[in-house]
This record gives sequence, structure tokens and C-alpha cells, in this order.
Amino acid sequence: MIIIVGSNKGGSGKTTTATNLAVALTSKGSEVVLVDADPQRSAARWHQDREEAGHKPSITLLEKRDNISQSIRTLDEKFDYVIVDVAGRNSREMITGAAVADMIIAPHQASQLDLDTLAELQEQTIRIRDLNPELKVLIYHAMASTNPSVKETERKEFLEYVSQFAEFQPLESISFYRKAYKDVIPLGQSVMEYGNEQAINEINALINEVFE
Ligand SMILES: Nc1ncnc2c1ncn2[C@@H]1O[C@H](COP(=O)(O)OP(=O)(O)OP(=O)(O)O)[C@@H](O)[C@H]1O
Ligand SMILES: [Mg+2]
Repeated sequence: MIIIVGSNKGGSGKTTTATNLAVALTSKGSEVVLVDADPQRSAARWHQDREEAGHKPSITLLEKRDNISQSIRTLDEKFDYVIVDVAGRNSREMITGAAVADMIIAPHQASQLDLDTLAELQEQTIRIRDLNPELKVLIYHAMASTNPSVKETERKEFLEYVSQFAEFQPLESISFYRKAYKDVIPLGQSVMEYGNEQAINEINALINEVFE
């Protein structure tokens, strides 16, 4: 299965989602490859830190650029999950990846600046589905507010906004804004290995919803 973690907005939580999924799925016994298809190399640097620290399980990471269709198709024959981290813009990697993918998981914050980029994702989705009609596009509410006074309204507004686009399917799972997600990156770890129960539950919920 090929999963593109992509959006047209920088800093929406793509690398965080991709690295956490890679560790969680590998720990559950699946064969996983994490593909860093972003020239900024955030996932590759995270992976290097993980290797240097010797954290287990070891994660397989490859770097691919430009037209990645053929290389991720080949990887899909060998691995259960090919998780592709792309740049936060309309990139060649995102388009050539999505053309052969099963799904895009698209993290977005509930901010107008993030949600404004959904119109561009809609256009891309329509074009990519000409080539790959089965492509699912799952919108993941990321860095959601934990503040009880805004939490519910924010979630409601997010879902209302996403529901304007028939091409997309909003995920029920949410990743809330938690320091743990930031803290694990320089350690080369995932929140699954960090002891923040709430963050662990969020990643498990995402996996249950999307893959089980
Ligand atoms: N749920 C979360 N809670 C708190 N901080 C988060 C969360 N998710 C991501 N972050 C932080 O937000 C920043 C952006 O996240 P990340 O690098 O994953 O986004 P990105 O979409 O990959 O960015 P880019 O477009 O630059 O590749 C990072 O500092 C990351 O640690
Ligand atoms: Mg990134």
C-alpha cells in the first residue's frame, strides 16, 4: 500500500505524521519503508538521528526525488506500507507519487491559511484521479487545540470547511497540539516510544481508522 503524506502547506505536520506512522506500523510487525521525497530532508535527518542513537526497531528509509512513480511502485511489491513524505507545496514528487498511490493523508491545521490550500488540493485530486481513479484523499486534522473553550468549535469549523469538497474524506482521528510530537523529532523517535499516552492513542487511532 502506498501512502503519500502530503499537502500544499508547509509546516502542517506531514513529516511528523509520516515518521510516527512508520515507527508505529513497523513496531506492529509490518514491513514498512519511509520514503523522503522532500529536498529539505527532514525525515532523512530524523532517520539519521534515530540510527545514531540506535533506537529499535530500525526504520528503512530511502530518499527519492523528481518522478517517484516507478520507484515507489517497485517498493510496493516488497513492503506492506510505502509511506512517502513530500514537501509542503505542489511538488513533482507529490503528483507523481499520488498518481500511483492508494491514498493521500493530508494533515491540515484548523487555520484559514492551511484550509485555503484545500482548493489547490482539490484541483490536483481531480487531475490525478484521471490517471488513478481509486485515489483516496483523507484530510487529517493536525495540531488541533486542546483548549476546552475552543476545541469543539474548532473541530466543527474544520469539518464544515472540509465538507465543502466532495473529493475529500475527513478523518475522525485527530492529532492535538502536544509538545511530545516536537520533542521526539530531534531524538529520532516517535511518540509511540515517548510515554505520552494521549499522543500514543492518537497515532493508534489513526492507524486503526486508516489501515484496519
Ligand atoms: N501534533 C503536534 N503537536 C505539536 N507540534 C507539532 C505537531 N505536529 C507537528 N508539530 C510541529 O510542527 C512543526 C511542523 O511539523 P512538520 O515538520 O511535521 O510539518 P511538515 O508539514 O512536514 O512541514 P514541511 O512542509 O516544512 O515539510 C514541527 O516543529 C513539528 O515538531
Ligand atoms: Mg516535512
